[in-house]
Amino acid sequence: MSEVPNLEERAAALDAVDELGKLREQFVLDDGTVYLDGNSLGALPSSVPGRVADVVEREWGRLRIRSWTESGWWTAPERIGDRIAPIVGAAAGQIVVGDSTSVNVFKALVGAVRLSGGPDAGRDEILVDSSTFPTDGYIAESAARMTGCTLRPTAPADIPGAVGPRTAAVLVNHVDYRTGRLHDLPGITAAVRAAGALAVWDLCHSAGALPVGLDEHGVDLAVGCTYKFLNGGPGSPAYLYVAERHQAVFDSPLPGWNSHAEPFGMRPGYAPADGALRGRVGTPDILSMLALEESLKVWDGVSVAAVREKSLALTDFFLECVAAHVPAGRVASVTPEVHAERGSQVALRCDGAAAVMDELIARGVVGDFRAPDVLRFGFTPLYVGFAEVERAARVLGEVLAR
Ligand SMILES: Cc1ncc(COP(=O)(O)O)c(C=O)c1O
Repeated sequence: MSEVPNLEERAAALDAVDELGKLREQFVLDDGTVYLDGNSLGALPSSVPGRVADVVEREWGRLRIRSWTESGWWTAPERIGDRIAPIVGAAAGQIVVGDSTSVNVFKALVGAVRLSGGPDAGRDEILVDSSTFPTDGYIAESAARMTGCTLRPTAPADIPGAVGPRTAAVLVNHVDYRTGRLHDLPGITAAVRAAGALAVWDLCHSAGALPVGLDEHGVDLAVGCTYKFLNGGPGSPAYLYVAERHQAVFDSPLPGWNSHAEPFGMRPGYAPADGALRGRVGTPDILSMLALEESLKVWDGVSVAAVREKSLALTDFFLECVAAHVPAGRVASVTPEVHAERGSQVALRCDGAAAVMDELIARGVVGDFRAPDVLRFGFTPLYVGFAEVERAARVLGEVLAR
């Protein structure tokens, strides 16, 4: 028991010097709950309800259709894309916001096969990471069928050795949603490009939690959601990144009127617009989109490097507190120890994990359960503190000691 006060004191000392600690005030959170599920649904930034009320009552209620131009609704997908860009290491003009991640995986992957030349150019295989989030796998399978390619599920670490002259495109999750493992985006992207194929990354579990460096590492296309570490709200729109060098030839499989060069020309024939907005499809979901835009304001002046530093400190401290508080042998971490391989979550394998998580939530520690036996805890550096981390591990220890 001697470690316990020591850990509490350490937590207090870490919170006292946490330069991101004050950002918590910008979120709607209650001190009775330790919220470790921001990797599933980010918390609500306090300024969003007022902004949404303004959009509904003034922009929609009073300005009505005038808001498409006067309130900047029409250009919101590119404008908000440019706000996300620095968070994922992209220069402006390469990200468009809209649709779900699933839909953007489809656009990106089919677009990537077309950019590679596809089967006509001898490139007739798509690689997908074998541990992928299910939707990516389902869509990759359909994209492969549609483009005349074969789908090869491949472990991320094996991708550099598996790509070759027949590879059209490779779809990889930057952080594994179940284990929290961070995959080697620079190395895998370089290997894919050296083989003449295109690298498509799913950033759902990394954007807003750690540096991504899309431009720096030469990523071809990327997608991600905005409701996790970007706190955009339930079902907030996803985004699509198309590297500038590909934009002139990016051929979207969903060429809706919003990506037409002259959308109000109402022409029967399709002619794509220039730039990132080539990734748009139909009318944007303005209410969700403008809630997201407001929520991104918490990022003003925040460095992703500082977020990463705190994220690693939080997950290190959580692992240390779990080792001290939880009876030996009750949990086993499946999240890598090595910082270079860790995202911003800790996943613990545990017998009876579903019931354990129910009990944790009843006691004010909110993580989530992933079948068959994983307790998942996400750490959002913008609003999670070290005392909360210690408390979460302590409550987990109490639940497992029963
Ligand atoms: C890695 C990953 N990809 C894709 C998705 C699916 O996103 P959407 O429901 O926005 O299509 C999720 C959802 O949690 C995810 O974690």
